[in-house]
Amino acid sequence: MVVKQSGLGRRLRIEARRISSQHRQLDELYALLVKALDEGVQGPVRRGFERFRDALEAHFSMEDNVHFPALHGLRPELDGLLTRLVDEHRTLRDKLARVQDAFLAGDLETGLERLDAFAEELAEHEDREEDLVAELRRDASAGS
Ligand SMILES: [Fe+2]
Ligand SMILES: [Fe+2]
Repeated sequence: MVVKQSGLGRRLRIEARRISSQHRQLDELYALLVKALDEGVQGPVRRGFERFRDALEAHFSMEDNVHFPALHGLRPELDGLLTRLVDEHRTLRDKLARVQDAFLAGDLETGLERLDAFAEELAEHEDREEDLVAELRRDASAGS
C-alpha cells in the first residue's frame, strides 16, 4: 500500500509540473506576440500569432486528452472542475479564432481588443488550473 501511495503522489507531481511548465512557455510566446504587435511589423506578428496559437492548441489538446483524463483517473471527484476546464478550452479556441479573423481582415484595432479580452480570460483559466496544480502538489507531498 505504501508503494502504491508513493506512486500516486509521484504521478500527481508529474502531471502538475507538466501543466505548470507549459503555462510558462505559453506566457513567453504571448509576450513575444505582444512585442511583435508593439513593433507593428507584419511578418513577425503573423509568425508570433501562429506560434502562440499552435502552442496553445497543443497545450489544450494535451490537457483534454492526456493530463485531465490522468487526473480524473487519480481523482474522480475532480470531474466537475475538469469538465468546466475542457469547456473553457472550447470557448477560448473560438475567441482566439475571432482574434485571427480580425487580424486577417486587416482590422488591427478590433483584433487587439479581442486579443486583450482573450488574454484576460486565458489568465483566469490558467489561474484555476494553477490552483488545482498547487492543490495536487500539496496532496502529493503529503503522500496521498
Ligand atoms: Fe487549460
Ligand atoms: Fe492549461
